[in-house]
Amino acid sequence: MQPRGFVTLAVFVAALAVTPPAAAAETLRALAQAAGLRFGTAVDVKALQTDATYARLLAHEFDLVTPENALKFSVVQPERGHFDFTQADALVDFAEAHGMQVNGHVLVWDQQLPDWLAHGHFGPDELKAILREHIQTLVGRYRGRIATWDVAAEAVGEDGKPRETFWSRGIGPDYLALAFRWAHEADPHARLRYNDYGGEGDGIKSDGIYALMAELRQQQVPIDAVGLQMHVSLKDAPQADDVRANMARLAALGLQTDITEMDVMLTLPANRAALVQQAKLYGEMLGACLAVPQCRSFSTWGESDRYSWIPEFFPGQGAALLFDADAGAKPAYFTVRRVLRRAASRR
Ligand code: XIL
Repeated sequence: MQPRGFVTLAVFVAALAVTPPAAAAETLRALAQAAGLRFGTAVDVKALQTDATYARLLAHEFDLVTPENALKFSVVQPERGHFDFTQADALVDFAEAHGMQVNGHVLVWDQQLPDWLAHGHFGPDELKAILREHIQTLVGRYRGRIATWDVAAEAVGEDGKPRETFWSRGIGPDYLALAFRWAHEADPHARLRYNDYGGEGDGIKSDGIYALMAELRQQQVPIDAVGLQMHVSLKDAPQADDVRANMARLAALGLQTDITEMDVMLTLPANRAALVQQAKLYGEMLGACLAVPQCRSFSTWGESDRYSWIPEFFPGQGAALLFDADAGAKPAYFTVRRVLRRAASRR
């Protein structure tokens, strides 16, 4: 028979393992708001509709959502001229019901294209017409309801030069400027953003992104912000000082910045030391954003490790987010909360 004290201790420890939800004033969204920032995440709409814990945590902790896939070309226009807004509408409704902003993601990208488009052999004029209709249908539908659009993504290569993509090949180099102008026509008040990975800190790619942004601004293309994705691992993360300096130079061009897709992949199974280092990295990148007034939001690419894209795309890696697979808060969550609390108390 177990001594009575042992049972009591075991129950106590088990109870501690389940993190109680943060009090309203202590949620990420409340603290971020007090610090002058929005705190967001990418949303898996299926999870939102089937997993009550996921939905509850989303509304409780975040005030900014990005559809992880629901507005990508292949999902939203699976057949030419046939738009399917079922998932995107569900998310926008949820966001409005819970006082959240929405990021539209993504209009001009060369991945997740439907077959009819990718294998369609269209000439430049027809492709322009297709892209214009796509952009204006999406942006127009959510005019006034989607605050920010990722108009274009991943247009710069690892060498810092404009990347050859489906769109640049099909339309020509002015496809970016056209896309921003079409989006602006469809919703003149939406904040229009360019979003990319691997150019967060210093280096050839971030210089290339900076040069492209400078050129677009010089051409008076309606672009308002740059999204720094921040998909990193413990080994290849940028330095916080470099991220801050990069944001500052983009701000000097008149652009806002956002951290749009942060996750920190760990080798599975993740050990305690890695989780602690991960927490530190989240805190540092958030700190860089908080140090630059033009950095307006900080988003992770997923709410909990249960639905993260990492294990599928990087086999053997995962545990990349703030909440574990059971929606329990990880060390990174507490670090982020502490950094936000400190920033809020300084304002
Ligand atoms: C990923 C999604 O998370 C996956 O579910 C999907 O299968 C592939 O795309 N950068 C981006 C996102 O801008 O759109 C990508 O999302 C992750 C990398």
